[in-house]
Amino acid sequence: MFNSKFSRPKIVSVGAGNVGATFAQYCAEMELGDVLLLDIVEGLPQGKALDLMQAGVVREYSVSIKGSNDFADMKDADVIVISAGFPRKPGMSRLDLLEKNGKIIANICDYIKRFAPEAIVIVITNPLDIMVQLAFHLLNHPPAKIMGMAGCLDSARMCSFIAEELGISQKQVNAMVLGSHGDLMVPVPEYTTVAGISVKEFISAERLEQIVDRTRKGGAEIVSLLKTGSAYYAPAASSARMVQAILKDEKALLPCAVYTQGEYGISGVFVGLPCILGAKGVEKIVEIPFSDENKIALMKSVEEVKQGIQSLKELGFAVS
Ligand code: 2OP
Repeated sequence: MFNSKFSRPKIVSVGAGNVGATFAQYCAEMELGDVLLLDIVEGLPQGKALDLMQAGVVREYSVSIKGSNDFADMKDADVIVISAGFPRKPGMSRLDLLEKNGKIIANICDYIKRFAPEAIVIVITNPLDIMVQLAFHLLNHPPAKIMGMAGCLDSARMCSFIAEELGISQKQVNAMVLGSHGDLMVPVPEYTTVAGISVKEFISAERLEQIVDRTRKGGAEIVSLLKTGSAYYAPAASSARMVQAILKDEKALLPCAVYTQGEYGISGVFVGLPCILGAKGVEKIVEIPFSDENKIALMKSVEEVKQGIQSLKELGFAVS
């Protein structure tokens, strides 16, 4: 009797593992649009999509969640979020995943070019800064329409540690973590506030340094606890936050891995910087004054990304 056609944004999650499925869950809970879970494992995206749809009756969301193994179904996607790939195991660095995950990203980019060339693309797969650089070159996307998720996640980790330290609400902490999503990421205490007040008013420099260090190792801390995989709730939540900023045209200032064209004196590489996210994707990279110490740390981070890109080239991938 009813056969309504909905016109809601289409969000495609490539990867229906822990990150991809949790991302779909958050998108549905936030009613950001209809979600398609895509994965090569037969039955996995379909099963998780059914389960998520049924959860929606109780959780009261009314968007559609579907699963598929057919990448042609990504057609008409507004946003594609890629989490497909191998996660880290204890003792592995994100760079150890370079070759295996590079091949997966290259395959996915072929499908995006064929079926959804206009979609805004967000890469989560590790090593994130390098995988997004590879996707950028393979897709030939405008820089505004492709970005990596990491700054939101690393900043969330720093917020959480600060809130725990102070015994206050996590909601009142605002942190900024820039640079690469690796050991040389750049947490910026100068731009970290508690209810608008500099964090330095509340936490000693020495203790803050320990929190910064824990933030840098935040992903590895969870890998070593889980033993069989890496974090997924916070990575998924951070990606959903970015998708929300895009689909709601929020013009939100968020730290994301973005393609540089001279900003902060950096060109031609993806690295985490503050940017405005809106309907067009990365609408602006925001340049803020940095201490000399942070400038040096950011440049080291950029070097880390460049070395990763070089390693990828040496493995025979088309990336520059
Ligand atoms: C993390 O930092 C998976 O890289 C991701 O947890």
